[in-house]
Amino acid sequence: MNTAVTPSSASGAALDAFIAGMPKTELHLHIEGTLEPELMFALAQRNQIALPYASVEALRAAYNFSDLQSFLDLYYAGANVLRTEQDFYDMTAAYIARAQADQVRHAEIFFDPQTHTERGIPIATVFAGIAAALRDARRRDGFGSVMIMSFLRHLSEEDAFATLEAALPLREQYADLWLGIGLDSSERGNPPEKFERVYARCRELGFRLVAHAGEEGPAAYVIGALDTLHVERIDHGVRSEEDPALMQRLAQQRTPLTVCPLSNLKLCVVKDMAEHNLARLLDAGLAVTVNSDDPAYFGGYMNANYHAVARALDLSREQVLQLARNGIDACFLADEDKATLHQELEQYAAAH
Ligand code: HPA
Ligand code: ZN
Repeated sequence: MNTAVTPSSASGAALDAFIAGMPKTELHLHIEGTLEPELMFALAQRNQIALPYASVEALRAAYNFSDLQSFLDLYYAGANVLRTEQDFYDMTAAYIARAQADQVRHAEIFFDPQTHTERGIPIATVFAGIAAALRDARRRDGFGSVMIMSFLRHLSEEDAFATLEAALPLREQYADLWLGIGLDSSERGNPPEKFERVYARCRELGFRLVAHAGEEGPAAYVIGALDTLHVERIDHGVRSEEDPALMQRLAQQRTPLTVCPLSNLKLCVVKDMAEHNLARLLDAGLAVTVNSDDPAYFGGYMNANYHAVARALDLSREQVLQLARNGIDACFLADEDKATLHQELEQYAAAH
């Protein structure tokens, strides 16, 4: 027996337990990416839609991706079962239950209206279903949340403008939730500059701005997101490491990166979790956070993401805590609410 394994696995188990109970924020989560195969089948049946898979198991077995696009093809096809306000409500409520089980206190949630309006679903239906579930959880449990409306970057800027115009009449009704604008979908060949004018308009309107950049795309897309779109957070951003000057800038400005370890593994951004650069980014002083992206497709929610990187990169308890602190600092809550979350986190750390 290899006795050297015992102490490290024992301390690994202790860190796993510490992670499981630790209060968290989640800042990079696509609500359409939380649609579990079981719920997808249930909604397909409710809406009388035929799925091209014989069973939940067959669908799950198809979740074998070679890159971002191979995932997006399935993700958009899966969203086809979402038809009614109740469907959006049920999906969001299921996510909240999973997040709460992982001790998530506050979630900032992407949604892609174009995925639904393209299929004839009214944008008001999308807003209403997601918001109703978030408000119910806030009332019931004090679960905090923000909605970030995201433009699909494989579509045109004109399309993004049309989506913004369609959504703006709803702004007042959802002023407690809809605070942000994001940019997602196929990154390569769709640089941030393509959306310069629509982001300028969103900025004038007072939205908080984020964008996916440096997931599959180059470090130059991170620079474009910062300088052209004026975002305050970068979603993913792991390829920033390829540009030392950018790394210095991100560290100096403490620009948050919403890193998603299991996503990066499943989409082959990294070959092996042991090769993930999260610890190097953290050591370089960047404001790295841990998030789950599309947990129904990538094999795990928040705790699974923390566990996977903590084990593969042999993170210390202090590094894990720093990731959680960064998540609080990077969120869109008011300073007094961030202070409350920080206090809960530090009390947890002192007690465990
Ligand atoms: N990257 C880009 N677009 C996405 C993702 C992602 O990880 N998830 C859902 N849409
Ligand atoms: Zn994402």
